[in-house]
Amino acid sequence: MRMRKKKHGAERIEACSELLIRDISTLKDGFEGIFDKERPVRLEIGCGKGNFAVGMAKQYPDINFIAMERVSDVCCIALEKAMASKEERESDNLRFLIGDAKLLAENVLPHSLDGIYLNFSDPWPKAGHAKRRLTHRSFLEIYKNLLKEDGILRFKTDNVGLFDFSLEEFEAFGAEILWQTRDLHASEKNADNVMTEYEKNFSEKGFSICSAWVKL
Ligand SMILES: C[S@@+](CC[C@H](N)C(=O)[O-])C[C@H]1O[C@@H](n2cnc3c(N)ncnc32)[C@H](O)[C@@H]1O
Repeated sequence: MRMRKKKHGAERIEACSELLIRDISTLKDGFEGIFDKERPVRLEIGCGKGNFAVGMAKQYPDINFIAMERVSDVCCIALEKAMASKEERESDNLRFLIGDAKLLAENVLPHSLDGIYLNFSDPWPKAGHAKRRLTHRSFLEIYKNLLKEDGILRFKTDNVGLFDFSLEEFEAFGAEILWQTRDLHASEKNADNVMTEYEKNFSEKGFSICSAWVKL
């Protein structure tokens, strides 16, 4: 997601600091002290402007959510959205991390996550860039180590090429595909589905949304 540099970005992020995990390495020991209460923790990687994380935290007060985004100016928008909607959440169950998914392996307690969401991850269409895709097997290895035994990776995309690649990666990795569809909005899971910014945009343009739930 490209974005013009935000004016006063650092100050704006600072104003939302109560929702920010400043130092990812504090997660090496787990999530104690991060949320008001211990609950299962789910992580969204590449949260963009935060619609999904904010919607999920409201819809599921018994789950703690961490939304991660590597572009600080994009995360700033998500943070501000989360601050503005704070009163709408029954629980204090949403936090943000600014950083790259690569940092997770070294900084998050293994087998501590209940779920991971990848929503409309950058497709990196050139074959030479396959390793950058967030469903490349090198990332699956990281996620497997972070997820609990029964944890689930949930993936959504409009991009058929990325979806096909991801299914191949899941299979090559030996993962179990629990559920998949090439038309999420026509599926039985649509009733509980919280849309992301990209999802709203692409589905309004007539694109079907592909999705898979995977046990790594
Ligand atoms: C195409 S956008 C989708 C945003 C949002 N998930 C949505 O569905 O509307 C992908 C987002 O993932 C972020 N991203 C890409 N690679 C990442 C990585 N390795 N770690 C963290 N965030 C990443 C990008 O900065 C961008 O904001």
